[in-house]
Amino acid sequence: MKLIREINFENKKVFLRVDFNVPLDEMGVVKDDTRIRAALPTVRYLLDAGAMLIVASHLGRPKGKYDPKLSLKPVAQRFQELLGQPVTLAPDVIGPEVERLKSQLKPGDIIVLENLRFHPGETANDEAFSRELASQIDVYVNDAFGASHRSHASVTGMVRFVPEKAAGFLMEKEITYLRKAIEDPEKPYVAILGGAKVSDKIPIIESLLDKADVILIGGAMAYTFFKAMGMEVGRSLVEMDQLEKAQTILKKAQAKGIGFHLPVDHVVTPSLTSESIPTIVESFPIPLEMIAADIGPKTITMFTSLINQAKTIFWNGPLGVFEIEAFSQGTMAIAKAIAASSAISIVGGGDSISALKKAGVTSQITHVSTGGGASLEFIAYGTLPGIEALE
Ligand code: 3PG
Repeated sequence: MKLIREINFENKKVFLRVDFNVPLDEMGVVKDDTRIRAALPTVRYLLDAGAMLIVASHLGRPKGKYDPKLSLKPVAQRFQELLGQPVTLAPDVIGPEVERLKSQLKPGDIIVLENLRFHPGETANDEAFSRELASQIDVYVNDAFGASHRSHASVTGMVRFVPEKAAGFLMEKEITYLRKAIEDPEKPYVAILGGAKVSDKIPIIESLLDKADVILIGGAMAYTFFKAMGMEVGRSLVEMDQLEKAQTILKKAQAKGIGFHLPVDHVVTPSLTSESIPTIVESFPIPLEMIAADIGPKTITMFTSLINQAKTIFWNGPLGVFEIEAFSQGTMAIAKAIAASSAISIVGGGDSISALKKAGVTSQITHVSTGGGASLEFIAYGTLPGIEALE
């Protein structure tokens, strides 16, 4: 895989795929610009090197048709502010007007294409659409690590129709750190997984069973494991169709001698609202009307002590419903424990990143991945379709 440092960009038209899939508030204003900031080093480098930039991203999931709420307009606006230079938002992704804008570019100019997913050809990885994206382009640069697990036209399809291709700085940095966690992690390697669904995390758990020394499970997904062990979990979220898979994982972890830890106490509530009063339950059964919403204090102590011994830490997914104050203590405590550790710490996933921010510890993490699903898939499989396309 070539890096942008190895390419001459002078007078070249560069298609720069970024992941500007950022959250917007109710007014349509960018709520968190982390992903835009993360692409700036590549953008600045390419401009300084004399390139003409066509910047492209998806935003949300508009399902192949125009949706004014998912226009890249506010994103282009924030991008322009952060960059300190004007950018032109194209009215579309492909078509005559976009071709005209591309043909008029001069070195140092930037156009931002509209939301790639306004066209069905993007997610369908359609060949004709890929060819249109590649029209007039001299170099394809992928800096969209967070979207590189998608085999879409702008990530994989168009790459073969462009003369040169390379990875941007963000892509390079993400690969470097995440590779460390899979190829040569300093031991003990502690992985912390949370979030609602086991089904989303099965490939990564399976891969971590071969690599990690300790796996800590929190969040609603823990209760699918408990149910698989025959426990009564009240109204806690359980994926009934994953019970067999969960049993297999538990057996494998035991056979391999991995420290596979589920919560030892639970913060439970009759309803997931800020008014509800949480209670702590230390053993099963969890009362029938209760929902587990956070890890309890004993679990926090146990997880923290395991985190303190780690040399490598990977964290994805909150340990409770941390958006509600009463159920945020577990996630906050774990975020702080990871931040305080001297281990190499890697955190991925939108919710975990919000939790780090809420705990005020983002700067103490070795590498905060801009990829949610992408970081999980990379850890699980060691590569991504978007990376393979560059090779
Ligand atoms: C993300 O936010 O994880 C990426 O931008 C991918 O978005 P997607 O899950 O809609 O493909």
